[in-house]
Amino acid sequence: MRRFRRLRQTEEMRSFVRENRILPEDLIYPLFVYEGENWKEPIPSMPNIYQYSIDRIDEELDRVVDLGIPAILLFGIPAKKDECGSGAYDKDGITQRCIRHIKEKYPHLLVIADICLCEYTSHGHCGLVEDGHILNDATLPLLAKAAVTNADAGADIIAPSDMMDGRVAAIRKALDENGHPLVPILSYSAKGASAYYGPFRDAAGSAPHFGDRRSYQMDPSNAREAIREVQDDIDEGTDMVIVKPALAYLDIMKTVREKFLVPIVAYNVSGEYSMVKAAAANGWIDERRIVMENMISMKRAGADRIITYHALDIAGWLKEK
Ligand code: PBG
Ligand code: ZN
Repeated sequence: MRRFRRLRQTEEMRSFVRENRILPEDLIYPLFVYEGENWKEPIPSMPNIYQYSIDRIDEELDRVVDLGIPAILLFGIPAKKDECGSGAYDKDGITQRCIRHIKEKYPHLLVIADICLCEYTSHGHCGLVEDGHILNDATLPLLAKAAVTNADAGADIIAPSDMMDGRVAAIRKALDENGHPLVPILSYSAKGASAYYGPFRDAAGSAPHFGDRRSYQMDPSNAREAIREVQDDIDEGTDMVIVKPALAYLDIMKTVREKFLVPIVAYNVSGEYSMVKAAAANGWIDERRIVMENMISMKRAGADRIITYHALDIAGWLKEK
């Protein structure tokens, strides 16, 4: 008889043969910075997550650093939006100013700048709009400019989330030509047109005002296409890739892990977070165990690092142990 139970008898033995672990170093915490003053605004669909103004954001950054979380993913919410999302690439835009602040006060915290237009456009789309269509090529120079101004401000990593074709190449070229050959790109390579982003769009005020994002984000029905997207981003020069959403797309994570050698980051998105929080608030599930099980499932599927709104909770639990 094969006695699998031999290695399951005590916590010491289970720990000895454990294949995957979660450490604070694995985690990336998303943060929403709002252009205003003395602002700490809860997001109703995301319990415990807030928008902060720059003058209030240190209270959250102190927690991140104290808990040993190495990186944040920064999203900006501008006071004013316009047709072409100019706040995204303004050298004194909200993320650019926030990054300068962070790099001065927390020089060792890695700042990942999310690059997209949807938080900054009046129509809420990730690219320029003409006659109801989302323009691809005309959007690329704006994304490239957003990457450069955020890198100028001190961003450590550039993370384009727009899903326009050719944006990695355009951004790489612009970074290289503007003195940032060593700033890496972490592209949202396999990003589905997902209903799981709903709470994020509340948080960032970035829901499209007409139509949806299906003409640029991937059809959730497709798995092979995700491999082509990743291959293409690697060919264009991305250094690392994101698979997103994470939990409902673990098959894609696993295939990307098997086919490519680049670092993979799982994005445990807002809707995945909110579902756990809602069930936990009702006393229907054990939040801590469910969250850790979700994290380990992403690791098992091949994720190297995890972007998650649970990051502060997890790092706190790990510290307690
Ligand atoms: C913006 C962007 C989105 C997310 C990350 N960057 C929303 C979207 O594409 O509509 C989703 C993150 C989340 O749901 O937590 N392009
Ligand atoms: Zn977008």
